[in-house]
Amino acid sequence: MTDGSAPGFRTLGELESVAARAVPPSVWAYVQGGAGEERALASNREAFRRRTLRPRVLVDVERLELSTTLLGEPSAAPLFLCPTAYQGLLHPEGECATARAAAGAGLVGVFSTLSTRPLEEIATAAPSGRRWFQLYVQPEFPATAQLVDRAERSGYSAIVLTVDTPVFGIRDRQAEGGSVEASAARGNGPGLQPPPRGPVRSAQGFSVPRGGTLTWETVRQLRSVTRLPVVLKGVATEEDARRAAGLGVRGLVVSNHGGRQLDAARPTLESLPEVVRGAGPDVEVYLDGGVRRGADIVVALALGAKAVGIGRPVLWALAAGGAPGVANLLDLLTTELANVLALTGRRSVREIDGSMLD
Ligand SMILES: Cc1cc2nc3c(=O)[nH]c(=O)nc-3n(C[C@H](O)[C@H](O)[C@H](O)COP(=O)(O)O)c2cc1C
Repeated sequence: MTDGSAPGFRTLGELESVAARAVPPSVWAYVQGGAGEERALASNREAFRRRTLRPRVLVDVERLELSTTLLGEPSAAPLFLCPTAYQGLLHPEGECATARAAAGAGLVGVFSTLSTRPLEEIATAAPSGRRWFQLYVQPEFPATAQLVDRAERSGYSAIVLTVDTPVFGIRDRQAEGGSVEASAARGNGPGLQPPPRGPVRSAQGFSVPRGGTLTWETVRQLRSVTRLPVVLKGVATEEDARRAAGLGVRGLVVSNHGGRQLDAARPTLESLPEVVRGAGPDVEVYLDGGVRRGADIVVALALGAKAVGIGRPVLWALAAGGAPGVANLLDLLTTELANVLALTGRRSVREIDGSMLD
């Protein structure tokens, strides 16, 4: 615990129940929900549960090294905070609280185009922290370029382009709960657009209201307007990984958007090995979706991930206790990671490899 006022949750299970009681049901449905009947959401977690580790014994694990690098920058652990929209729904300080906790833990925080606070304010809230900006492309490219320029000027050190959202997924739970998104503040500008709903049916057939804006051409365009490294978030196949590497993309996040987009998507852990193959040696591969324990981090790294991202637990921690709550969560996860390293006979995250898996 990092602060006297931090809530004293000892496990993520406990944290989840504290958070469930702290927010209105419509906000909880927004946070927890997934696409369709939530198969992808459940299977992300199940994929981790199915994996077991081969521990080595009689290794001197007196000193443990968790630190690594992400795109060449130091990170206290192979862990980052995923971009999630509208964090102000969970806590009045929203993304600013998350940024402070991430900086305090020495971890990268990724912040959404749809943050409730402006990206400049998030940067000022934790000037020493490392931040990446998550980009949702806008219907007109100049608006996209302007966002990228603002992020660059505010010291964000990578652009994370989300690519699994050509349209919004159909989310049954949110439809039932009544979505809170329409009323949430858009800190980066009231005109900013989330991914389009649709496709919509008309006499001419199905079409996406502002279709055609998210293609490989978008990646080329983006590369031409920024000197920052570009990361694609939402890649799930070897083919797409190889194509991204060919375009000079520096990182890939294997993600199915926390099960919120394609309900029939594979669990991210199962997509990871082929994405690592396609990415080749020069592109870092990360994973998110269902990471909840120290052992999950080790399993993902053993399958070739450089780091993993956590999404919903950060929102639970924000709701439960703002910045100290998020700090507590990050402390819990890194302590668990250290525990698993010791129990598997690894002194450093660099010693995690495929031989740890069956
Ligand atoms: C409430 C919520 C909002 C999200 N908003 C965004 C977003 O704005 N941009 C984005 O790229 N991903 C978004 N995501 C997806 C996360 O970045 C991440 O891929 C996912 O939450 C990881 O899975 P986990 O929640 O099981 O850890 C959101 C996820 C949740 C739960």
